[in-house]
Amino acid sequence: MLQTESIAFSSTERETLRKIMLARRDMRHFIPDRKIDEDVLARIMQAAHSAPSVGLMQPWRFILIRDKFLREKISTIVDQEIEQTANVMNERKTEFLKLKLEGIRDCAELIAVVQAPDDGTLLGRRTLADEMALCSTACAIQNLWLATRAENLGMGWVSFFDPVKLSELLQCPKGALPIALLCLGPVKYFYDEPMLVKKNWRDAKPLSTVLFQNRWQDEA
Ligand SMILES: Cc1cc2nc3c(=O)[nH]c(=O)nc-3n(C[C@H](O)[C@H](O)[C@H](O)COP(=O)(O)O)c2cc1C
Repeated sequence: MLQTESIAFSSTERETLRKIMLARRDMRHFIPDRKIDEDVLARIMQAAHSAPSVGLMQPWRFILIRDKFLREKISTIVDQEIEQTANVMNERKTEFLKLKLEGIRDCAELIAVVQAPDDGTLLGRRTLADEMALCSTACAIQNLWLATRAENLGMGWVSFFDPVKLSELLQCPKGALPIALLCLGPVKYFYDEPMLVKKNWRDAKPLSTVLFQNRWQDEA
């Protein structure tokens, strides 16, 4: 056991963590033709792998996409899904197509995050089994996101893909589910607010509208 005082964080460290959380953004613009140092990437991946998980299931698997032909094929799958989504956007289609929603071709490192086939972990999963596994993987992605920002690199989460097609490309086993494509790398600038807010796609909710006491409260 570690004594609380021996690992207590200072107010400066707290402030740094807060700064990192507030400065994290979903990034879609990367400086092309750049690399991430292997030691930096190792720190980022270790942070991801330190995430909490239901019953210590650790259901995340990270696939570094290093083959440029494979990256191109993944890019095509993403383009197809963006097109399919545009087709169901109705009156917002034109506006939607103006959004930049991924930086797959330009980012320094592309990482596919795959949910491993269910290993039967029971602890904490008698109800909501699939959801708890997915939440655990999302925890790993959030750790990765914050660690990436702390290294002064950008990260963008891409969810525009057909999981069956991506699973085939990545030769995933039966029962595995790709849940994210993560674009990482140096960026020229960080957006000062969510891109979707900047582009007037949607407003962000203030904390006061999602923080309740004792019972669900409907929005005023
Ligand atoms: C599960 C998940 C999937 C997302 N998928 C995409 C995506 O495919 N493309 C994209 O541009 N942003 C994607 N985002 C980023 C969100 O749009 C972004 O987090 C949100 O607009 C808030 O902006 P911020 O992350 O910069 O604070 C995703 C975020 C999450 C958590």
